[in-house]
Amino acid sequence: MTPTRTLLVLLAAFVAPSLFAADAAAIWKKQCAECHGKDGRGDTKIGRKRYISDLTNPELQAKFSDEQAAHSIKFGLKDAKGNVIMEPARRVSDQEVEALVAYVRTLKK
Ligand code: HEC
Repeated sequence: MTPTRTLLVLLAAFVAPSLFAADAAAIWKKQCAECHGKDGRGDTKIGRKRYISDLTNPELQAKFSDEQAAHSIKFGLKDAKGNVIMEPARRVSDQEVEALVAYVRTLKK
């Protein structure tokens, strides 16, 4: 590998994840905080109406896997009666969904 190439690979490895993290925080603010709240507690108007769970609670976080969380973010969630309680995230790539899952895990207190 040429030195320039090595540098590019290093950049991709170290800079890209932090870019995704920044993306996830921005998406969270735009698309998720309305219900879940900025801090994930769900102490919002819609959150209270939908009996949203507190994502800062480690016990709640243990109840869903990363795969489940990714699925919910991509496809949304319905209640037992089939009503949509969480809309699917809009215009997000698979990488952004993954970054959002990682972001959700950081909300745990
Ligand atoms: C319209 C309100 C609403 C929006 C917007 C919303 N959610 Fe949710 N979310 C809910 C509700 C309601 C639940 C399920 C009830 C609960 O919290 O127990 C939920 C559950 C979750 C869960 C738990 C996963 C599971 O399968 O149980 C995760 C993770 C999550 N949301 C992430 C997100 C992310 C990330 C976004 C933004 C892309 C988002 N939510 C946007 C309402 C919303």
